[in-house]
Amino acid sequence: MKPYIVAIFNQKGGISKTTTSTNLAVALAAYGKSVVVIDLDSQGDSTKSMGIDPKVKRGVYDLFIGGATIDEVVLPTDFENVRMLPSTYSLAGIEIKLSEMQNSQRTLTNILSHTSIDCDYVVIDCPPALGILPINALASADAVIIPVTATPYANDGLLRTLPSIKYVQEGLNKNLLLQGVLFTINDRNKTTRKINELIRSRLGGTVYRAEIPRDTAVIEAATARLPVCIYSPKSPAGQAHLDFTEEFIDRHEKIAAKSGVKVAPRMSREAAMERLFRWRSEHQDRVDEAANSDRIEQKKSQLDRLLYGDRTKAERYHLALIHFFIDHRASLVAFLLVLLFGVVALVGVGFESVRRLAAAVGLG
Ligand SMILES: Nc1ncnc2c1ncn2[C@@H]1O[C@H](COP(=O)(O)OP(=O)(O)O)[C@@H](O)[C@H]1O
Ligand SMILES: [Mg+2]
Repeated sequence: MKPYIVAIFNQKGGISKTTTSTNLAVALAAYGKSVVVIDLDSQGDSTKSMGIDPKVKRGVYDLFIGGATIDEVVLPTDFENVRMLPSTYSLAGIEIKLSEMQNSQRTLTNILSHTSIDCDYVVIDCPPALGILPINALASADAVIIPVTATPYANDGLLRTLPSIKYVQEGLNKNLLLQGVLFTINDRNKTTRKINELIRSRLGGTVYRAEIPRDTAVIEAATARLPVCIYSPKSPAGQAHLDFTEEFIDRHEKIAAKSGVKVAPRMSREAAMERLFRWRSEHQDRVDEAANSDRIEQKKSQLDRLLYGDRTKAERYHLALIHFFIDHRASLVAFLLVLLFGVVALVGVGFESVRRLAAAVGLG
């Protein structure tokens, strides 16, 4: 089945595009859906917050320049049914590279249409500003979500973003749907409420009912390189992201029903929470295990420094050889015994053969 592709886009930076993308991805998976996240930002924030090192060899850049296929680039994450097309630092140079290519605004569309990605949803985390990458995302997407933070400049971001979406709808992708506007990093004060009301009155039902509150758990989660839905599923922001995900799925179901497509029902909130808690504890186990083996490595290198400190290379080899004999003394003794036994047996067999030969030729 063709996945539902959704781009998370706003020309402004710092308004929770990455946070929305990664939390939507893990929350969708918690509700039983399979997801691929595409990180289109050379900063690699969503790659990092899914626990993937942005120094990986291949990423979206290689995909765009035709140097790799989706199967070669896609990576599993720690979370069941969430995979990632990671960003690498080289993505920063993609603008120049794509400007040399023909039809560069449809590069991602072509890539996605030539390879069938086996998942229910593709979530694209867009970089800020309207460059070639967000245009590619909008050109290939079924829907776009605009996160908005209610600051006095929120309108500016929206006013610059809506025309870009319209530009794509009129040319590159006539099927692109504005699925909704999501209030993020929401403060509880009068100014915020006023700005939100103003935007709601202008955009009506386009704005999601769910609003993501400002919550320090999101920052703690980012520091732990985890989406807040995993780091703290019960936190206000974690819960709000789940509310939003349910609304997102409901809207998708309605859109799909209009074109006669049936979407598999999502799991219950309880089941989703149970999964998120399980993933959190599995992740914690992995972190503990890694910290343990790190500690052992540190102890080993401390000991090495103590033992080998300022010795010459020859002295180090000599010491290493002695340690090798000490470390493996039991195996070495066993080996020597087997060797001795073998030699004695061979000598015995040899003597017996010589004796028989001598007897045979009448020398006995
Ligand atoms: N609900 C929230 N509460 C508090 N801080 C948040 C919230 N959502 C996002 N942030 C923080 O705001 C900053 C920008 O978020 P990010 O998702 O990286 O935005 P963008 O991708 O649009 O640049 C990050 O430091 C992030 O941790
Ligand atoms: Mg970002």
